[in-house]
Amino acid sequence: MPDRVIAAFGPGRVNLIGEHTDYNGGLALPFAIDRGVTVEAEPLAGGEIRAEARDLGESDAFDAAEPGRAGGWRAFVRGTVAVLRAAGVEVGGARLAFRGDVPQGSGLSSSAALETALCLALLAVAGAREPDRVELAKLCSRVENDWVGAETGLLDQLAALCSEPGHALRIDFATLALAHVPLDLRGWQLVTLESGAEHRHAAGGYNERRAECRAACDALGIEHLSAADPAAAEGLPEPLRRRARHVLSENARVDAMVAALRAGDLAAAGALLDASHASLRDDYEASVPEVEATVARIKDAGAAGARMVGGGFGGSVLALFAPRVGAPSGSVAVAPGPPARRL
Ligand code: GLA
Repeated sequence: MPDRVIAAFGPGRVNLIGEHTDYNGGLALPFAIDRGVTVEAEPLAGGEIRAEARDLGESDAFDAAEPGRAGGWRAFVRGTVAVLRAAGVEVGGARLAFRGDVPQGSGLSSSAALETALCLALLAVAGAREPDRVELAKLCSRVENDWVGAETGLLDQLAALCSEPGHALRIDFATLALAHVPLDLRGWQLVTLESGAEHRHAAGGYNERRAECRAACDALGIEHLSAADPAAAEGLPEPLRRRARHVLSENARVDAMVAALRAGDLAAAGALLDASHASLRDDYEASVPEVEATVARIKDAGAAGARMVGGGFGGSVLALFAPRVGAPSGSVAVAPGPPARRL
């Protein structure tokens, strides 16, 4: 157990394309960004965890052996401790303090940033070996599912833990096969712009969409929607037919994006962002008026393509701009950075 303060960083992520495919056994192409959450941790004698959310000026204290339920950011800290202990990591007393620069509710996964930074920090304080990163992603996702109440898939955690600088991460959620795809923008620029509507998983339509996808699978007798036969999916009752159509078309767009990037065809990449957005808006019905207004604004500014990013029902818009075309004010440039790590 270290007797000094250790620090760990977990990044937020941008999902280039492949939205609402992770829990449907499909494909996605995210990358970690350089904004995220930094956790400082040091061991404390006894079994108490004292945690401080510095940005909020709030704190929490609980018994590591019995974290008990809480809401908000406290659910993430308590959940991470509980999940690590359930996995056999001897998490004892510790002082934790964190701060971050991924806006909450922006769809850039401040939650995965927090979970992965907490996990790495607590593993270090416990003197435990870091498990395989895919296994670690599953542990982090359990925090969100079991403690925060959001039925999210593995997209955000895999992006935060397994990305490589300069690359997007192609994830096949049916097999968890990962491939690093060079993201060479050749002078083009990716930006995000917040819509102003905060997106919330547990309370939003996200869990409802998951239930619809399960219903579609039950009707088709398949394990996950990406395995659906397109003709059979067309026979589903509405809105399940459109939900399935989004998932199948979005999977195809992920591999079309990989091909566009490999060919250096950024105009084609932009068109794929537009097509993804139309599918999320019309077939998946995961957009809201504020997001539509933001997409319109960014397209008016000359974006080659734009789409809502993340779980939807609010959050940010991702857009691609050709060289010398200026993004609107408030846009933030995003580029693929390193994964979660000890500092
Ligand atoms: C959120 C969830 C992810 C994924 C996306 C939609 O970010 O946390 O698991 O489902 O929405 O692609």
